[in-house]
Amino acid sequence: MDSIVVTGNGPLNGQIPIAGAKNACLTLMPATLLSDEPLTLTNAPRLSDIRTMTTLLQSLGAEVSTLNDGKVLAMSSHDLNNLTADYDIVRKMRASILVLGPMLARAGAAVVSLPGGCAIGARPVDLHLKALEAMGADLDLRDGYVHASARGGLKGAVFEFPFVSVGATENAVMAATLAKGTTVLKNVAREPEIVDLVDCLRRMGAQIEGEGTDTITVQGVDRLSGATHPVVTDRIELGTYMLAPAIAGGEVELLGGRRDLLQAFIEKLEEAGVSVTDTENGLKVTRNGNGIHAVDVTTEPFPGFPTDLQAQMMALLTTAEGVSVLEERIFENRFMHAPELMRMGAQIDVQGGTAKVTGVSSLRGAPVMATDLRASVSLILAGLAAEGETRVSRVYHLDRGYEQVEEKLRAVGALVERVAA
Ligand code: EPZ
Repeated sequence: MDSIVVTGNGPLNGQIPIAGAKNACLTLMPATLLSDEPLTLTNAPRLSDIRTMTTLLQSLGAEVSTLNDGKVLAMSSHDLNNLTADYDIVRKMRASILVLGPMLARAGAAVVSLPGGCAIGARPVDLHLKALEAMGADLDLRDGYVHASARGGLKGAVFEFPFVSVGATENAVMAATLAKGTTVLKNVAREPEIVDLVDCLRRMGAQIEGEGTDTITVQGVDRLSGATHPVVTDRIELGTYMLAPAIAGGEVELLGGRRDLLQAFIEKLEEAGVSVTDTENGLKVTRNGNGIHAVDVTTEPFPGFPTDLQAQMMALLTTAEGVSVLEERIFENRFMHAPELMRMGAQIDVQGGTAKVTGVSSLRGAPVMATDLRASVSLILAGLAAEGETRVSRVYHLDRGYEQVEEKLRAVGALVERVAA
């Protein structure tokens, strides 16, 4: 199994291109199941999670091919010849549940394995199921699978989510596009990935209003057509690489970066003493010699501070002046990077959903282990400023969500390499 070896090497300078968003692409791909015409996604990221979704869609009868070195996904779901999403694929990736709404809406039936828990928390799918039930789906949970049917099709409904869920919003919006009548979804997620999904569905002929607000209204149509859609910029990859010069010093331009995707995160970065400026081609992050101040961070649904950047922000705050308090409000078990950062000399006290980080003057390289995607990249970031060598093992997590991480960091002067170990 591969490891990534990072050697602290001083300031970083140059440019890093930001890819299309993993989490947008993972919901845009199942949208192909809604139509018998081709759906083409451009600006797709090249990641193992995208390959897993490809395998899942192919198992259902969809054709998926990659063009332009993997950056274009050409999909066609003309023939849906299997309505069962098998446990062997679903267990690899929770986003697999996103095929449920589209399959049910188009074919009137679907059988999808329950995804089960994962390292960052229990992550149930009850809200996905409740929203579909409100639209008239009959659901039966048996043998670890959701057996869903909607004889005569789904029907428009009013449904209020008890709390905000990105995935449940996506499943419900996709299902509602082909339901009979009007669906009003309240207390929905407002993430840029939802806005991107709605943009794509609209290109396919869906009638949807309210994306980016807390209420989405969908007027069902009889059928959706094909479309070509560019995947939105990956705001989490963007935030991750913005932290590289923040941690190691220097000046890095993030090509394709957009401030509106990360307002709350950027405010915290600036509060910590890092400069962020808009450029013609993206965003520029500068830290020249000055220290980092402690800041408090609470993760929240968009437009709040994203949970997917909490681990990386913690890496920055380990060497800040003062005490930072990080509160994780989205997932119950998302501090597994803390003990690994402590192996590098960080001082962190985790109590339930709160981590108190007392800044130290510097970190030391150490062998550490990645436990999930964002945790792994936080350890690489920490390694950029640590004294000596940091060896991050179990990097398959990293490959789920970051394309060419070594190349991108090496391009700005970091000493990062992948070794077989
Ligand atoms: C999406 O997960 C992202 N994944 C996650 O990214 C991200 O951390 C999360 O949204 C929050 O922003 C994809 O888009 C593929 P949720 P999702 O439903 O949709 C609970 C990464 O690192 N919940 O908004 O699964 C749930 O357990 C990943 O790229 C229920 O209780 O997140 C969590 O505590 C990790 N019942 C909270 O809601 C449900 O039916 C929010 O989860 C659904 C969710």
